Amino acid sequence: MVTGWKAYLSVSENAAHRCAGDESLRRAYRPLREAIRGVVEAAKPKTVACLGAGVLNDIPYRTLVQSDATLHLVDWLPDLVETGITHGIIRTGDDDRPECIYCRLDDDRARAYCARFERASPEAGVCRHFARGPKDEFLCTAFKRGAEPKIHGQDATAGYASAFATALGEELPQATSWKQAFGAANAISRRVRRQREPLDIADHSVDLVTSSMVLSQFEHQPYNYFAEQAATLLGPPRRRDERKLDAAMKALRTTLVTNQIVRHCQEIERILAPGGRCFMAFELFHHDRERECWFLVGQMHQALAIVAERFEFDFDLLPETHLALRFDPPDKSSLVYAFVLKAKKPAPSPPPG
Ligand SMILES: C[S@@+](CC[C@H](N)C(=O)[O-])C[C@H]1O[C@@H](n2cnc3c(N)ncnc32)[C@H](O)[C@@H]1O
Repeated sequence: MVTGWKAYLSVSENAAHRCAGDESLRRAYRPLREAIRGVVEAAKPKTVACLGAGVLNDIPYRTLVQSDATLHLVDWLPDLVETGITHGIIRTGDDDRPECIYCRLDDDRARAYCARFERASPEAGVCRHFARGPKDEFLCTAFKRGAEPKIHGQDATAGYASAFATALGEELPQATSWKQAFGAANAISRRVRRQREPLDIADHSVDLVTSSMVLSQFEHQPYNYFAEQAATLLGPPRRRDERKLDAAMKALRTTLVTNQIVRHCQEIERILAPGGRCFMAFELFHHDRERECWFLVGQMHQALAIVAERFEFDFDLLPETHLALRFDPPDKSSLVYAFVLKAKKPAPSPPPG
């Protein structure tokens, strides 16, 4: 039985909720959070879109809320974003009492962020409805999301990855061999390039876009969805078939990653306001703990070439000394490369005559 793409995504969503409030992950993401915070403080954007926002571990959410910017948080797993917000808004104040970031805003803005907001006393760190979580005193169970920030449960590749996975879920059940499965997947990966579903964010409206560790995900999904569903349907490929299928597998991985990066970059270009900036970060090297060596991540060196074709680099807003950041979650280590990008100037028109 092949699981449809939407059902598959919601299973991953359930599993990913545990990333919220995980202190070791928060620590690992800190260098990225600090790098983005620096860019926010320097660029002072009025509108910010965080693509692949997830549970906000790499997003300086409090800084963004305090900055007064209009916020768009985009993830194809939108419930994760809500969980991330719930875990991010309450912190310890100077006197060790809980303090809510929203309750520090003026009344209108606080109400826009939390539908339950009702001012207690001006000096109180939380509002009248604050109710601590049963296990975590820094969670407010009364919190109810308001109209802000805008959460978009959408695909940051303008629908390319979802269109591939949806069509695959429908067509894969007809395959009776791995050769047919790869044939169908490769054909779909080319065919769905014609489909486009832009984010619900207006053209040229965003001063700062963040794409933190999103490109890194394109290596895994939706390829893993294909591989897992094909294995469920057909069983694992035989060793001698594996060798024969190698070229089809590499072609599929390359087409999926390349198209996702191109479409993601096009979507960033579309929403960037004139003079706007994009903070982009992705894993370029992984550490192999068994062999004790670092290796270049398969498709990601191509990502840099695709990005460089479309954007110019700004090494003033994020100095080159911050280019490489160490990412050390509990189970792996990688080197993340971070860039600030700006739209390319159009090529000068040829002289008349
Ligand atoms: C490695 S996480 C980045 C960390 C994330 N900001 C966090 O704190 O959880 C990548 C995020 O991008 C999202 N994502 C991956 N591909 C996506 C796509 N095509 N469209 C929208 N979101 C995507 C994932 O759901 C995930 O939440």
